[in-house]
Amino acid sequence: MKKILFAVATFVAFSACAQDISLVAPSKSRGSDIMQTFARRQSVREYSDKDLSQQDLSDLLWATMGQNRDNGKLTAPSCQNKQEIRLLVFTKDGVSEYLPASHSLQKLVDGDYRALVADRQDFAKTAPVSLVMVADMDKFGKTDERAMMMVAVDAGIVSENACVAAAGLGLATVPRASMDAEGIRKLLGFGDSQIFIMNNPVGYPAN
Ligand SMILES: Cc1cc2nc3c(=O)[nH]c(=O)nc-3n(C[C@H](O)[C@H](O)[C@H](O)COP(=O)(O)O)c2cc1C
Repeated sequence: MKKILFAVATFVAFSACAQDISLVAPSKSRGSDIMQTFARRQSVREYSDKDLSQQDLSDLLWATMGQNRDNGKLTAPSCQNKQEIRLLVFTKDGVSEYLPASHSLQKLVDGDYRALVADRQDFAKTAPVSLVMVADMDKFGKTDERAMMMVAVDAGIVSENACVAAAGLGLATVPRASMDAEGIRKLLGFGDSQIFIMNNPVGYPAN
């Protein structure tokens, strides 16, 4: 009986947190010309403290790893279309996972944990949003040396999409490998099959 009560309590606690947060529809007709976008792409490590607008957050996430075709494929290509990269979104309000199929966020934890992404680089804490790319090795299905290389490539592509999207949308970001991966793992209760690879703090440029 005690075990059943514990299971019910755990389920209720998890359900209370695992809420879906809808995003506004992405605008697919905005942004600067592609060559101007590449001309502007650069690492930026200073951000305004203004939160991203709902439209900018939606457009950033869709461009970074959104579903762009009816067959379920994404703006970011992946090795054998495994789609093993999970995109986590850290804000002052909590940590969510971006779900490309529904273009929504699923809240994983409440609270401000951007410091775990920043780790020893304080500037990263000041970005209103930090995107974290995690490879789900269970979904990839292999863990040999080549598989580890392929998931790193896939995460790099997602991170570069975020860099290009930011440049095109007037946002500021930097691709980063540094983060407190073990701290984030503990916070989210992720197992060893989840590999934290890259992150992008994103905000409006300072000034
Ligand atoms: C795989 C990778 C890891 C990186 N990790 C960090 C990092 O942890 N912290 C940081 O401030 N910049 C990081 N960078 C950003 C690079 O320092 C930056 O891209 C490089 O200096 C070139 O500058 P640019 O992006 O303005 O062209 C990383 C870039 C890449 C591609």
